[in-house]
Amino acid sequence: MSFETLAAHWADIQPRRIEDLFEDPKRAGAFSTQAENMLFDWSKTTLDDRAVTLLLDLAQKAGLTDRLEAMFSGEAINETEGRAVLHTALRASTARKIIVEGKDVIPGVQDSLKRMGDFAVRLRKGQVRTPSGGRFTDVVNIGIGGSDLGPAMAVRALSPYHDGPRVHFVSNVDGAHIADTLAGLNPADTLVIVASKTFTTIETMTNAETARKWIAAQVGEAAAGLHFVALSSNEEKTGEWGIARERVFGFEDWVGGRYSMWGPIGLSLMIAIGPDRFGDMLDGARAMDTHFRSAKGRDNMPLMLALVGLWHHQICGYPTRAVLPYDQRLVRLPAYLQQLEMESNGKRVAMDGTPLSVVSGPVVWGEPGTNGQHAFYQLIHQGTEIVPCEFMLAREGHEPELAHQHRLLAANCLAQSQALMVGRSVEVARDLMEKAGLKGDELERQAAHRVFPGNRPSTTLLYNKLTPRMLGQIVALYEHRVFVEGVILGINSFDQWGVELGKVLATALEPVLNGEASPADLDGSTQQLVDYLT
Ligand code: F6P
Repeated sequence: MSFETLAAHWADIQPRRIEDLFEDPKRAGAFSTQAENMLFDWSKTTLDDRAVTLLLDLAQKAGLTDRLEAMFSGEAINETEGRAVLHTALRASTARKIIVEGKDVIPGVQDSLKRMGDFAVRLRKGQVRTPSGGRFTDVVNIGIGGSDLGPAMAVRALSPYHDGPRVHFVSNVDGAHIADTLAGLNPADTLVIVASKTFTTIETMTNAETARKWIAAQVGEAAAGLHFVALSSNEEKTGEWGIARERVFGFEDWVGGRYSMWGPIGLSLMIAIGPDRFGDMLDGARAMDTHFRSAKGRDNMPLMLALVGLWHHQICGYPTRAVLPYDQRLVRLPAYLQQLEMESNGKRVAMDGTPLSVVSGPVVWGEPGTNGQHAFYQLIHQGTEIVPCEFMLAREGHEPELAHQHRLLAANCLAQSQALMVGRSVEVARDLMEKAGLKGDELERQAAHRVFPGNRPSTTLLYNKLTPRMLGQIVALYEHRVFVEGVILGINSFDQWGVELGKVLATALEPVLNGEASPADLDGSTQQLVDYLT
């Protein structure tokens, strides 16, 4: 089976409308996957049995099962960097043994979790003291990309569970970000977490320097170091930066940046919600790992999420997908998924360096509902491009006293997928216009604007409640989706060479903007921009 066979099948079935597929009374259940208190309904898509069979064969042919076991068992599947890919080890059962370069990594993971837990508990109890003997009331995580998006998304998602110090995030090198964040804080009561796997990322190191000056100005140079913690794999650099060893939480190179919220990079989250709830999140992710490894075919949720994504992007040719959580606390999930999916699968060559024969990952974007409804849903419903929508919704919220609002939220979510599929015919639009008293050409003109073509695909992921455990399940679900898509495309989902060139050029341009170097061989446009700025 191949992409070509799938494309031919798509050409055959394209004229059929999604809603007609529901003539099969079993469609909803048969084109849905349930696991771990979640229901993933993918029945409002154009997929039929043959398409599903072809997609499952494609996954099989790509060697998914072997590749999956290779990842879980610590083989160096990140071939361009020669590394294992073991974010799953960060949440693995203590009974497991995962051997990397002859050594079981699980004891190290457990040690690291314990160190984080001890620190978080002492900080939360006020036992980790400021140099003047006070309590740290605020924690600022300085990091970017994978050292920011995961914990920032999760801290926001789990706000009902916060009972620790306040946690803030600074990522952008734009001084506005750190200035605005620190503006409301007292340096004497603030702990800064410098989160950087490499401890060389220019944005993070620049912001960390700014924070150090801000703290030193109040507490003095000597005491400033006691306000810092580092999360990094680079012990040498954290030492050079003056952070004491016991304040460094390290991790191995087999944890990719965008897959790292389960370990030390999640310290800010652990501080906010406590180690037990952090552990619940790991349990949820582990449950999803177990499900991913054991469930077969249509019963495997990450597999089906991936196959639906491939169907829409690589086969149907829809260029983007929208992630639409009807869950305000998942406001940062689309940004998190942008890194997870686009940094992982936005590649142009296969693992062996040859050009890809199919398009790689789609553009991923989104916003929480219902805000999006009053902004970009116009295009989703009536624009000329089809945007597969991935709706998400909890059965219950955290505010029992506002249950009526949750019902309204849910009604909106379900209504959108219904509207996308069913649409509104020109006949119904004409009828509406007639009832509004219009006639003739004006009726026709106005009716045309009120037609919804419908037949637009969407999926809906329902889950019980956004608890720490459920968040772990959701994030692991998406991680595995990215993995499956990468395996089928034949690419390395775990490197990110595409971010390098811009970094190199920025490093060369900074002295030009400082007036310390003269521009060398700049193209006309960049030269003009430099001239304007200097
Ligand atoms: O530039 C991209 C990237 O390398 C991401 O992959 C990573 O998550 C981010 O930068 C931050 O890297 P670090 O944790 O080393 O500062």
